[in-house]
Amino acid sequence: MSVETGRLSPPDVRSMFDRIAPVYDLMNRVMTAGLDQHWRGETVKAVVRPGDRVLDGCCGTGDLAVAAVRAGAGDVVGLDFSPRMLERARAKLQVVTWLEGDLLALPFPDADFDSATVGFGVRNVADLPAALAELTRVLRPGGRLGILEITTPTGFLAPFYRLWFDHLVPLLGRLLRGGSAYTYLPASVRRFPGPEELAGLMRTAGFEDVAFRTFAGGIVALHTGVAR
Ligand SMILES: C[S@@+](CC[C@H](N)C(=O)[O-])C[C@H]1O[C@@H](n2cnc3c(N)ncnc32)[C@H](O)[C@@H]1O
Repeated sequence: MSVETGRLSPPDVRSMFDRIAPVYDLMNRVMTAGLDQHWRGETVKAVVRPGDRVLDGCCGTGDLAVAAVRAGAGDVVGLDFSPRMLERARAKLQVVTWLEGDLLALPFPDADFDSATVGFGVRNVADLPAALAELTRVLRPGGRLGILEITTPTGFLAPFYRLWFDHLVPLLGRLLRGGSAYTYLPASVRRFPGPEELAGLMRTAGFEDVAFRTFAGGIVALHTGVAR
């Protein structure tokens, strides 16, 4: 396991996010030219309904959970295993319940949530099918899941994307604290399942009406599904 292969053990993933927490939001805005917040807004719009009890898994610094509150969700729980990322989240909004925990062992009973979101998180977990199974378990039947994740474009943008993501992002990362995270980032995207494959894994985990759409020429995908 190494940053170059895009595979790290869970303790290494946790300490990597602890290290980059101070620059995480800034790097998101810079790397996406500010589009990341729009994608989070679209994720919330796709799955969260007013009054929902919402889980934002791998909440990091909390932007998706905050977007869910602003969209009129009822109870919102943000869960992450990095204490430093959670510290940033807590400073943003106090009405969210911010919890330190593992997406692979969610500390909630079955059918506890109406909707769930995971933004740029599932790529980092050690066992993706197990994470999807946990998300199905804690959603009520009919509950909605939205997964926002970076993906690899195949169209005309592909060469520009490779230049930006595989070369310039790691270079930018080297200038910042915790720079190896920005070598891990493109490597983890390269080994992550493509949109069709992720949709298949969601179906296997027990979601129906699974669909996905992409943003920004196919660099980010939003998958949605409904728990059976
Ligand atoms: C790239 S950040 C995404 C943060 C946020 N969701 C966003 O939209 O920017 C990924 C987050 O997933 C968390 N994470 C990775 N694996 C996890 C796991 N097994 N359980 C809980 N959190 C996890 C990391 O600590 C990190 O904060």
